[in-house]
Amino acid sequence: MIELNVNGNPYQLDVAEDMPILWALRDVIKLTGTKFGCGAALCGACTVHVDGSPTRSCVTPVSDAQGKKITTIEAVGESEVGQKLQYAWHEQDVVQCGYCQSGQIMSAAALLSENKSPTDEEIDNAMAGNVCRCGTYSRIREAIKQAAKA
Ligand code: FES
Ligand code: FES
Repeated sequence: MIELNVNGNPYQLDVAEDMPILWALRDVIKLTGTKFGCGAALCGACTVHVDGSPTRSCVTPVSDAQGKKITTIEAVGESEVGQKLQYAWHEQDVVQCGYCQSGQIMSAAALLSENKSPTDEEIDNAMAGNVCRCGTYSRIREAIKQAAKA
């Protein structure tokens, strides 16, 4: 039995220890805001926080998250940083198709939690692993800057 804490809620899951966190979230717990993109830690669509660190849930087994706190896009708005990002995302009209965006916001939230006033270079470095096929990168950067100033 795997015990996970997701968005403050405890879960006991009858799943294999090597099941990726992404599948436990989407298929077992039914939190589908976290997306599958590449399955190989290359696109960032599946990013969640594990004890606050941005984590590629497609390649991280549930056993690695036992005793730690997982936060997903469904709960990112419960933090001050998450709320500021959500507001800025709306203001900057960032989203195009939306598929990559939960991963983008989770990476941005991890960045601003660590660094309240990132430079452009620091933003680009923190977000480099999050791919957006719609090319919303410049709006993402502006939204992160707006949230940092808010
Ligand atoms: S789906 Fe996990 S990094 Fe692409
Ligand atoms: S908004 Fe479409 S992939 Fe990023």
